[in-house]
Amino acid sequence: MASCNCGHQNDDEKQKEFGDLLAKYKGVKGALIPVLQEAQEIFGYLPAETMKQISQSQGIPFSKTFGVATFYSQFHLKPRGRNIIRMCQGTACHVRGAAKVFDAVSTNLGVAKNETTEDRRYTLETVACLGACGLAPVMMVNSDTHGRLSPDSAVKMVKNYE
Ligand code: FES
Repeated sequence: MASCNCGHQNDDEKQKEFGDLLAKYKGVKGALIPVLQEAQEIFGYLPAETMKQISQSQGIPFSKTFGVATFYSQFHLKPRGRNIIRMCQGTACHVRGAAKVFDAVSTNLGVAKNETTEDRRYTLETVACLGACGLAPVMMVNSDTHGRLSPDSAVKMVKNYE
C-alpha cells in the first residue's frame, strides 16, 4: 500500500508499532504505566480496545488498566484535537477576566471544558496556573503561550491554528 510522506502513520503502521510495543514489555513486571504512555503516543489517546490488549498482554485485569488510565490526568480516553488549548483559571487570570475569555472561546468553538471539536481541530482544557501570571489572562495553544488576552483576541488567536 502506498503511504504518504507527511510523517503521519496510517492505521496499519500504528497497529504494527503497537504490536512491537506489547512484545517489548511482555512479561516485564510493573510496566503498565510505560506501556500506556507509549500506546498513547502511538494512537494519540487510549481506545478501550487498546487497553484490553494491554491488559491481556500484561496479564492483568482490564479493571486495573482502566483504573490506572482514569486515575492519571496524563492519560486520555477519548480522541483529542490536533491543537490543545489550555485556558488558565488560576487566581491571577481569574481576577483579570479569564472566565469571560474561556466563555468566548468555548462558545466560538462550540465545545465545553475537556471537549474536542467534531473536526478534531481543537481540544479545550483548563489549568490551575500556567506560570505566567504577569501576563494574565493567559492561555497556551500547544506549546505557545498567549497572554493579556481579551475574549476577542483569544478567539482570533485560536483561529490561527489549523
Ligand atoms: S494564574 Fe494564570 S498564569 Fe498563573
